[in-house]
Amino acid sequence: MRINWYPGHMKKTRESIENSLKMVDLVIEIIDSRIPVSSRNPILDEIIGKKPRLIVMNKIDLSNNDANIMWSEYFRNLGEEVVLVDAKSGQGINNIIKKSNYLINHSKNKLKEKGVKNIPVRAMIIGIPNVGKSTIINSLSSRKGAKVGRKPGVTRSNQWIKTNKGLQLLDTPGILWPKIEDKDVALKLAFIGSIKDEVLDRETLALRLVENIAKNNYNLLKKRYGIEEYDTGLEILDNIALKRGAIRQGKEIDYTRVADIILDEFRKGLLGKITLEYPQEF
Ligand code: G4P
Repeated sequence: MRINWYPGHMKKTRESIENSLKMVDLVIEIIDSRIPVSSRNPILDEIIGKKPRLIVMNKIDLSNNDANIMWSEYFRNLGEEVVLVDAKSGQGINNIIKKSNYLINHSKNKLKEKGVKNIPVRAMIIGIPNVGKSTIINSLSSRKGAKVGRKPGVTRSNQWIKTNKGLQLLDTPGILWPKIEDKDVALKLAFIGSIKDEVLDRETLALRLVENIAKNNYNLLKKRYGIEEYDTGLEILDNIALKRGAIRQGKEIDYTRVADIILDEFRKGLLGKITLEYPQEF
């Protein structure tokens, strides 16, 4: 999905999310576990204020297990509740319901004491594009295949989706803009394919990705491409090109081809489970 965000557009989106927030007990913020900080928009903190929030680290089938644990601890230390999810397979989806109920239990108990019965927990899913909001909504509602929320903000004709165990979801997610004015964040979003490659030419993008992977996961590059250990990203790129035959006539490296190979294989998870940012960096 490609949305160009203009200031007016952002203002409208924000207002629309704020309006929907009045109807819910909690916010379920979806982030990409490969870039847990870069896939968030800090404006959400401001928008939701004191409303309870559950952070869903999605796509854990693509991110490093140890890093996922470190990140969960990082967020818990900040006072947040976190669940790890692979929405594609459905792993962890039930924990979203359990944790949401747990988070809202306190206020529900007060109502129960007043004799109110069957009080549902109402939640809204929010996140930047491509983190898996629609997949999670579909999975929670067992509405396989239905595409929802293709527009920024939320529409007025909101419907409630009932899940089992008392959680009700707004069927349209709140879509926040990615924080692409920060170059480092934009780069990571481009690595995972969340924003278009035009942030940089694909060759430079692949070079930066290789440099990032080499920092913490050199072994995975070695394993996938059968290369030795090299000092610079360019040497790594050249040697992957040699191994994969990305060579033009005259024996020049075909950087466009090797960039395509690396970006494509990384995004498909073929290099292994790779997290691109760690809590120590923040
Ligand atoms: P959005 O609403 O937040 O914009 O995201 P959406 O659910 O549309 O998901 C964006 C892409 O991420 C989709 O892939 C979706 O299948 C994939 N995805 C969502 N959750 C997970 C997950 O936990 N693991 C993995 N590996 N992928 C996930 P797509 O290529 O755009 O479409 P398709 O492959 O489903 O056809």
